[in-house]
Amino acid sequence: MNKNLILLVGLYLLLAGPAIAQDQHRRPDDIKQYLEHLDSTERDREQKPSPVIEALRLKPGMAVADLGSGSGYFTRRFIEAVTETGMVYAVDIEPEMLAYAKENVIHMHIAYSAEFILAQPDNPKLPFESVDLLFVCNTIHHLEDRSKYFSNLKSSLKPGARVAIIDFYHDERSGELGFPKHHLVSRETIVKELTAVGYRLDREHNFLPRQYFLEFTAAQ
Ligand SMILES: C[S@@+](CC[C@H](N)C(=O)[O-])C[C@H]1O[C@@H](n2cnc3c(N)ncnc32)[C@H](O)[C@@H]1O
Repeated sequence: MNKNLILLVGLYLLLAGPAIAQDQHRRPDDIKQYLEHLDSTERDREQKPSPVIEALRLKPGMAVADLGSGSGYFTRRFIEAVTETGMVYAVDIEPEMLAYAKENVIHMHIAYSAEFILAQPDNPKLPFESVDLLFVCNTIHHLEDRSKYFSNLKSSLKPGARVAIIDFYHDERSGELGFPKHHLVSRETIVKELTAVGYRLDREHNFLPRQYFLEFTAAQ
């Protein structure tokens, strides 16, 4: 990532981070520029989107929710992976981000099945038992009461569904991010919190240099 991108992403993560109460969730000043940076090909080097999609073992026909979908960087890749026989829910609390993500999906010029859901900070508004995989990239630290959030979320998961979480390490492994790392949530905290509300850590992928990548299932 170049320095400007780090600063821009860092500024947004800082402004929208959990240290600020959710009802004070703030958008970056230049949301369009921020979205374009989220979508930049430069990001691919460390975000490794193709290996991430491969690691998730998606199949045509599956239903995926991209929680905190932002620019749709992963949403579009999920659409390709599950094809029009599946379903992708792009979920975000920012209408402008959803509109941008939707426009980019339309520009893919392929058949697809997707819904763009304007969520509430404490509720993704996903349909009942609708999802095989809930994916959360660089977003979990935005959620305020994560225990309650993931407890309630179970009603949106199909039996046996997975929850995949990617976020920056809270320590030196994530390098320079452009914002204080106390806004981040450690891997250990996420494992502890989700285990306490009935999820089981099933897999961990270690190929992302600056982020942890965890896969949970909701214990039956
Ligand atoms: C750092 S961006 C990550 C975007 C995308 N996941 C990616 O990796 O490119 C965080 C996103 O989470 C969204 N967000 C913040 N709080 C949220 C919440 N409570 N529910 C859903 N989305 C949220 C923001 O609007 C933003 O689009």
